[in-house]
Amino acid sequence: MTDTSVTTTSTQATPVPATIATLKQHEGQTVVLHGWLYNLRASGKLLFPIFRDGSGTVQGIMPKAAVTPEVWETTKHLTQESSVIVTGRVRADQRAPGGYELDVENVEVVQRVPEEQPYPITPKEHGVDFLMEHRHLWIRSPRQSAILRIRAEIIKAARDYLDDNGFVLTDPPILTPAACEGTSTLFPVDYFGDEAFLTQSGQLYIESTALALGKVYSFGPTFRAEKSKTRRHLTEFWMVEPELAYAGLDDLMALAENFLSFIVGRVLERRMPDLKVLERDAAKLELIRAPFPRLRYDEAVAMLNEAHAKGLLEHPFEYGNDFGSPDETYISSQFDRPVMVHRYPAAVKAFYMEPDPDDPKYALCVDVLAPEGYGEIIGGSQRIASYDLLKQRIEDHHLPLDAFQWYLDLRRYGSVPHSGFGMGIERAVAWICGLEHVRETIPFARTLNRIYP
Ligand code: 4AD
Ligand code: MG
Repeated sequence: MTDTSVTTTSTQATPVPATIATLKQHEGQTVVLHGWLYNLRASGKLLFPIFRDGSGTVQGIMPKAAVTPEVWETTKHLTQESSVIVTGRVRADQRAPGGYELDVENVEVVQRVPEEQPYPITPKEHGVDFLMEHRHLWIRSPRQSAILRIRAEIIKAARDYLDDNGFVLTDPPILTPAACEGTSTLFPVDYFGDEAFLTQSGQLYIESTALALGKVYSFGPTFRAEKSKTRRHLTEFWMVEPELAYAGLDDLMALAENFLSFIVGRVLERRMPDLKVLERDAAKLELIRAPFPRLRYDEAVAMLNEAHAKGLLEHPFEYGNDFGSPDETYISSQFDRPVMVHRYPAAVKAFYMEPDPDDPKYALCVDVLAPEGYGEIIGGSQRIASYDLLKQRIEDHHLPLDAFQWYLDLRRYGSVPHSGFGMGIERAVAWICGLEHVRETIPFARTLNRIYP
């Protein structure tokens, strides 16, 4: 019997699975992408579909002659956000935003978005309310995806910095019996008939883990029943909090500037394509290197008074207040690096802050204000080490002494000077990404007026 089967050697290699972010490694190869149709333009016998796959977007080119009539017809009438598996050859193109284009050979539709119910977010402009109402879909847009990738990088950088510098991650509880940052912003929950609260900060708990382990940090969700409708306030946000035993305010400021410089450097190193999508001026971020300028509260107030006298600030600043958003914006816009404002009057700050031994009217605290008008991204302080003084402060602030007995124990048993700060992830993301509002910095923002979706 003669063997009639014919063996053909294909010149075409089997397509390799790839992602859009890594197309550079596949120049000249035929790849398979798993994604969605972002946009489609047709021009005679040419189709220009833009695909996205979560790692980026790429423009495809599909000449009618290059594909089967079925693939041509299907693609030509494909609807936005239909899910597709695309095969195509990677070609370098200087003009393409990502540097590469795809010569499309095949499009397999996984789910076609029906025409009668089209994807609600079209590439045209939509209002912010509409977009927030469709946040579960809005995050698919190239801009929003870029922000979320940068957010992930910032979180990873923060963790890497602390992990690699001897800090032990210790997770504080979310359900707590008492306030940490003032009683006016507590979210109450019913705890089997008792009143408990969602945490405002892990600080009190990581003070205890710092006295156990030396250098620690926490990273978790934080809740503030903020009635503020500013572009900087969320009711639920994420905070990273380092805490160090045997450390004072100067150690804390040194940590803050190194920590922030590291994070910004990491984003520049790894997420440049995303910064480009956001049209972020990277040159401004290149300037972020320790040391940062340091300013006493009193010096900052002098700056505000001068600005008011020159008509640059509408309202005069009342000495002894905490800075409002316009004040912070003004101060931080005076520097090209984050500015560390320290030694606020103790009266405007939290009960646990150590008074300055040089003048107890001031607290050994620091707020780091991001440049370009972004305002406070870090707040921290040295903590009161004396049992008697701390007890006095708890009473002065009308806080329930019983709920703080364990916290006072930290001053009964081997009390030491210790310090820590908290950085709000969303504020850091807003600044590094150059965004106008924190609502875009977290997948699902929780604000005074929004808890859907
Ligand atoms: O300045 P805060 O209130 O400090 C604390 O909670 C300290 N217990 C932290 C510590 O010392 N371990 O908050 C710290 C940071 C702020 O600088 C800001 O970045 C962020 O948390 N933050 C908010 N972010 C978004 N929305 C809000 N409502 C925020 N409140 C604070
Ligand atoms: Mg603060």
